[in-house]
Amino acid sequence: MAVGERVALVTGGSRGIGRGIVGELAALQYSVVVNYRSDGEAAESACREAKDRGAPRALAIRADVADLDAGRLLTERTLAEFGRIDLLVNNAGVAPATRLDLLTTTAESWDRVLGINLRGPFFLTQAVAATMVELLRAGTVTDPQIIFVTSISSAFASVNRGEYCVSKAGLSMVAQLFATRLADEGIRVNEVRPGIIATDMTDAVRDVYDRRIAAGLVPIRRWGTPLDVGRAVGALAADSFPYTTGEVFHVDGGLHLRRL
Ligand SMILES: NC(=O)c1ccc[n+]([C@@H]2O[C@H](COP(=O)([O-])OP(=O)(O)OC[C@H]3O[C@@H](n4cnc5c(N)ncnc54)[C@H](OP(=O)(O)O)[C@@H]3O)[C@@H](O)[C@H]2O)c1
Repeated sequence: MAVGERVALVTGGSRGIGRGIVGELAALQYSVVVNYRSDGEAAESACREAKDRGAPRALAIRADVADLDAGRLLTERTLAEFGRIDLLVNNAGVAPATRLDLLTTTAESWDRVLGINLRGPFFLTQAVAATMVELLRAGTVTDPQIIFVTSISSAFASVNRGEYCVSKAGLSMVAQLFATRLADEGIRVNEVRPGIIATDMTDAVRDVYDRRIAAGLVPIRRWGTPLDVGRAVGALAADSFPYTTGEVFHVDGGLHLRRL
């Protein structure tokens, strides 16, 4: 279903899962803002791809989501360029630079991972939500949404990247909080929770997970792809769930299932 000239802001939209999301939103004829932190070329290429797939407009905007001022500027610039924000997808995130055991991990890694994965998205959402409330009151948008891309790590303990698990568990609560606060305002907030997805982030552990997936770790015995996650976000963005907020959509091949 095409949804007209709506505008989506996708953090970390230049590569990996974010790029898969941008492509699906473009196919729904959303104009897209492709946020990125360092790789401008990838962001420009994601914008070209978005236009090829049907986005009326696509714009790359550099901003480090860990920097709260940059997040506010990202919101303001999106509004200045497009006049509206219908959808925020909080996708940008990082793994720890080095996987360290819980007993040896560092405060630096904790601060970096939580700054990008949790603190940044919280305050970006605060800024975008306030903007959406104003846009709703002005009648500029009718059905704005916010989506958080969390992780299987929101609920699964991995002791060699505890700070990542904490950041994602926290982000799942952030999604619940904003869903609760914003329902009355007319803004739906949902969480898309990917499992093991083939991107640059998981490149370093490709062999390990090849083996574990082949051995049955994931009931649907394959890697997930950015397209798998993009399609889930696309279903939400295409208004397939008008009476749903605060929901967790697992996109993990059944990895979260408890088995005996
Ligand atoms: N891959 C998985 O298996 C998996 C599973 C569950 C959840 N996730 C989550 O899905 C999201 C995307 O992961 P991915 O695998 O697609 O990662 P990725 O391939 O490493 O891509 C990360 C994207 O985020 C951007 N980014 C990173 N730090 C940023 C910052 N501080 N500010 C703005 N943009 C930033 C990157 O832009 P630059 O290139 O310009 O830095 C890039 O576009 C993350 O939140 C991750 O935690 C991933």
